[in-house]
Amino acid sequence: MTSDADRGELFSEERSAEVVVNSMEGTRDPRLRQVLDSLVRHLHDFVKDVEPTEEEWGAAIAFLTATGHKCDAARQEFVLLSDVLGVSMLVETINHRAKGVATESTVLGPFHVVESPPRSLGADICLDHRGEPCLVTGRVTGPDGEPVGGATVDVWQADAEGYYDVQRPGEVPPANLRGLFTTQADGRFWFRTVMPRHYPIPDDGPVGALLEATGRHPYRPAHIHFLVRAAGYAPLTTHVFAADSPYLDSDAVFGVKPDLVRDFAVVEDPVRAAELGLPDRFREVEFDIVLLRAEE
Ligand code: BEZ
Ligand code: FE
Repeated sequence: MTSDADRGELFSEERSAEVVVNSMEGTRDPRLRQVLDSLVRHLHDFVKDVEPTEEEWGAAIAFLTATGHKCDAARQEFVLLSDVLGVSMLVETINHRAKGVATESTVLGPFHVVESPPRSLGADICLDHRGEPCLVTGRVTGPDGEPVGGATVDVWQADAEGYYDVQRPGEVPPANLRGLFTTQADGRFWFRTVMPRHYPIPDDGPVGALLEATGRHPYRPAHIHFLVRAAGYAPLTTHVFAADSPYLDSDAVFGVKPDLVRDFAVVEDPVRAAELGLPDRFREVEFDIVLLRAEE
């Protein structure tokens, strides 16, 4: 706590954090004051722990400067930095605790960049039909198991070669592998797609250099993104991960939670395939989603 005597105290190595914290006493917003207080204390502790040389501190500033320069309308290198340091997952998890009831959340990622087009239940979101056909089914319910009809289920995924549509404009149809579905009264949704592939996060910038310097690969395991919204329920941002994908135990952005991993079973059933408009051999995954109520 600050006393009047502390005010105006000159800087010293021993009390550096307190001196800076006291200088910000005039912060009117209490939350901002709390955040800055903690930031300054942790930052000073970090510098005292590491004792960087001036060259090292200069390199840190240069790294952050390069991170800023890499950002544009389509690329957010600071978010990517937060992702590979596990901070995005920590913020996501703190803000969306599943309370042992709801489906776990995970990172949104940078590829939810265009509005997914509304599609009818059962539609094929793979517009160029390149890849291994897959049926995705599920049911959205509330915490007491009540069906949630009218929920919107926004899905997007990488293609069979590991690219999102926005990474290969002109090569694939716009909004390929994206769709916005609405659940039936019983909470059910289903759509056709292709198996997503594992892929590297953008690694041609400072974050890629950081991964390289730390002996880490840039890959994410194969997954389909979901953003589920329903009136009266908290929105959920999550993925379903394919159990047979590489990198499940070393996701570059720490997004994997065991409860989100599912078998994408191989189905060889010509009768069902014909009913669904799929080839005789296809993959199938069931991903039920439990939402928390908005006030929980
Ligand atoms: C993604 O899953 O789309 C993603 C998440 C974090 C960083 C890069 C990509
Ligand atoms: Fe992704």
